[in-house]
Amino acid sequence: MILDYEEVNDLTRYKLMSDTVVPRPIAWIVTEDEGVINAAPFSYFVPLSSNPAVVIVSIGKKEDGGPKDTLFNILKHKKATICFVNKDNCEDAKNCAMPLEKDESEIEKYSIKTKKVLEDYPAMISSSQSALFCQFYSQVDIPGKTTPIILEIKKQYIEDNRLDEKSHVYVDNLGRNGAYFKAMVDL
Ligand SMILES: Cc1cc2nc3c(=O)[nH]c(=O)nc-3n(C[C@H](O)[C@H](O)[C@H](O)COP(=O)(O)O)c2cc1C
Repeated sequence: MILDYEEVNDLTRYKLMSDTVVPRPIAWIVTEDEGVINAAPFSYFVPLSSNPAVVIVSIGKKEDGGPKDTLFNILKHKKATICFVNKDNCEDAKNCAMPLEKDESEIEKYSIKTKKVLEDYPAMISSSQSALFCQFYSQVDIPGKTTPIILEIKKQYIEDNRLDEKSHVYVDNLGRNGAYFKAMVDL
């Protein structure tokens, strides 16, 4: 069967892509604005290059057509802390996908523990095994309702004992597979 992407609607295209391009890493992005700590998961997320160390994340719009809080905060403050989801914090990450008012914090509403590791960057989710401290790099302009943002990784947190002497990192991140979170398996 061949599906013509021009003949399917936006929702169907989203389902086709997100069920097929799997597993996708999940960027659980923490940002801040006016003292409110915001956290939300994004899986249209991928590394682009290691030099410069950049990742891209595509952020859609809110139902009212305005920018999601994560996008607003990144464009205003130029900083984001990307955390990763594992089986212990997966429910918290799912909760963070619920739309909240701009002045309401997912971190406070769902009592998610964070730790301030670097003064100049938003706090990280305490239960994440690794976190990327990022600075806004550029915005990619495409038509439609999605804004792809390139972020440069400036620093990385790695939990003790997860980095070996050859600079390999061992984390148990979950990925996004269609509507589900899936763990990686060794083959
Ligand atoms: C696993 C997962 C992945 C998601 N990926 C994206 C994504 O790539 N882009 C997007 O715009 N929304 C994505 N969402 C939805 C956002 O998390 C949701 O719209 C959230 O409310 C945005 O919050 P904010 O307004 O605080 O930024 C995803 C949700 C889940 C559960």
